[in-house]
Amino acid sequence: MRIDKFIGNNTDLSRTQIHAAMKRGEVKCNGERVSKTNASMQPDDIIELDNTVIKPLNIRYLMLHKPAGYVCANSDSEHPTVLDLLDLPHKHNLQIAGRLDLDTTGLVLLTDDGQWNHRVTAPRKACTKRYRLITADPIGEDIAAAFAAGVLLHGEQKPTLPALLRLTGSHQALLEIQEGKYHQVKRMFAAVGNRVISLHRESIGSIELDSELEPGKYRPLTPSEIASFCG
Ligand code: URA
Repeated sequence: MRIDKFIGNNTDLSRTQIHAAMKRGEVKCNGERVSKTNASMQPDDIIELDNTVIKPLNIRYLMLHKPAGYVCANSDSEHPTVLDLLDLPHKHNLQIAGRLDLDTTGLVLLTDDGQWNHRVTAPRKACTKRYRLITADPIGEDIAAAFAAGVLLHGEQKPTLPALLRLTGSHQALLEIQEGKYHQVKRMFAAVGNRVISLHRESIGSIELDSELEPGKYRPLTPSEIASFCG
């Protein structure tokens, strides 16, 4: 990691203030002055600013019940972001482990731990996400078989990975997918001539959205929820 990013993540200083401190010789890595603003560090290196060791802030793991109308991004010029729902310091350090569309509701995971985020979101891990959805038109009986076989999404070269569709009504279903392509669920239904009009994420891997969490509320993950992505 770059030293300026490490200091930025763990203090209130801006990038400009950090670079100025580096140029003034106030930043040290393992006791050696670092003046190059793009210098990097190893995870165990000791970084000092003005002779004070910078301690990494606690790493956080959160689940949020995302309401509609919030963007899964760090900033947005048009809409509030999921970070606006958090009353936490240094919340811009948090990474969103699997984004939802503006109008999609449900489970969003956030963390400062980049490696954990990678384990949740890396396509190679094929982590299962379960969605509850409502469609504009009735869902044909043959659609479950089509999704199990994989459908070709508009603009893609390869079909989707096998997905599990369980009908819960003529226009309602639960869908489990192992990928996280852009607008994936909406595009899967578009590929079979239907349209998703309501989408809610219930789970990611074995982490279920807590039924006690009202829309807009969040809580820390439990140790076993965190550990479920540490295998
Ligand atoms: N698939 C979508 O189409 N939208 C989402 O927000 C999540 C999955």
